[in-house]
Amino acid sequence: MQVVAAPKVSPEEPGPAASPPAHPAGRGAAPGRSGAGRVHPQRLSHVLLFSSDVPRSVHFYSEALGLRLSDRSGDVIAFMHGAHASDHHMLAFAKSGGPGLHHSSWVVESIDEIGLGMQHMADCGYVRSWGVGRHVIGSNYFCYIQDPWGSFAEYSHDIDFVPADVEWQSADHPLEDSFYVWGPPPPDYFIVNHEIAAPAA
Ligand SMILES: [Fe+2]
Repeated sequence: MQVVAAPKVSPEEPGPAASPPAHPAGRGAAPGRSGAGRVHPQRLSHVLLFSSDVPRSVHFYSEALGLRLSDRSGDVIAFMHGAHASDHHMLAFAKSGGPGLHHSSWVVESIDEIGLGMQHMADCGYVRSWGVGRHVIGSNYFCYIQDPWGSFAEYSHDIDFVPADVEWQSADHPLEDSFYVWGPPPPDYFIVNHEIAAPAA
């Protein structure tokens, strides 16, 4: 972990609101597939790391960086935000046998852009994914695409936001009720720490 003092880059305001484009009267709204265009994420929202001791990681990042606990599910997963306005989580931790990267999350303009990004990646051969769906903790719409080394990049839209003058009411959510509101069931390769060497067969 390298800590560098730099200007604040986390957003001062929530990301773009989920508002579908106006429906033109008398003709279809959807573009042809070839005219759908490419999706360009606007910024990094958060990173989720594996940790062998989630409460200890939360304690360290609270004490060392001043991050604040947003929400958690027992000792299995925890989400932390910045004290000076940030998304619901900038950094999150999930229980594993050791350290590793689970995913980086990238803000896009709309739910439609999540679908377009997923489709483009599938067309390019990246079909191992989870989504589209909506999370409970953080509330964002998501689709995760697996990268060649086993971790994921998340298209994210409409995540909860914690303004600087608001004290977020942290909660301990039951795990089975907090993973996602709706969406396909996660594939078995979704919660795997690929940075831990697989046991010899
Ligand atoms: Fe995420």
